[in-house]
Amino acid sequence: MRIVIATGNPHKVDEIRAVLAPMGFAVVSLSELGRPVPAEPDEPGSTFEENARIKARYYAAALGEAVLADDSGLEVDALQGAPGVHSAYWAGTEGSRADRDARNNAKLVGSMRGIPVEQRGARFVCTMCIATPDGMVHIETRGEFDGVIADEPRGAHGFGYDPYLWLPERGMTSAELSPDEKNAMSHRGRAVRRLAYLLIHKRISW
Ligand code: IMP
Repeated sequence: MRIVIATGNPHKVDEIRAVLAPMGFAVVSLSELGRPVPAEPDEPGSTFEENARIKARYYAAALGEAVLADDSGLEVDALQGAPGVHSAYWAGTEGSRADRDARNNAKLVGSMRGIPVEQRGARFVCTMCIATPDGMVHIETRGEFDGVIADEPRGAHGFGYDPYLWLPERGMTSAELSPDEKNAMSHRGRAVRRLAYLLIHKRISW
């Protein structure tokens, strides 16, 4: 079964494909479609679920086939859940993805300065949604990945806030996990495995 993933983030494509490809799903990203693709829609939702739904419906209608969209971000308890749905552009929209990640991480460090370790709880959240061109939403899943915000970055894998999500039970950050280890524990890994389970075992199709 072919699944188009509505994201331009190559890290997300790799993480999702690593789970779905071995199960026999042909995962195709927007840039691999080989035809013009509309620009990303606005994501005005106040929840990850809403934004994933908006993206999945928008691209399914534009492309004329079923689309899987994901929305994700970081929720920090001491910041009342911020940056949340604003995670990608928290410190501004300018520059490359790497520039934005660096500015976001600097803002995170500044916002957390002086906050004691027992109040540094946080989690990555990922929601996934499959929609068809008629606007129907067929599957929605959610995964979470709990940790603690570190005050120094560690690790070179992953992307975004990974170097700052400390995993106490592993004694390392999310960016120090290998791609397979991250997928086994992460918000995206959990959401995509649940989605695969529903596709296969509940015989959900369109
Ligand atoms: P989205 O493209 O709207 O889902 O934006 C997600 C943003 O949340 C990314 O740009 C990152 O800043 C952050 N984020 C989501 N998932 C991860 C992850 O697995 N590691 C690190 N940062 C993440």
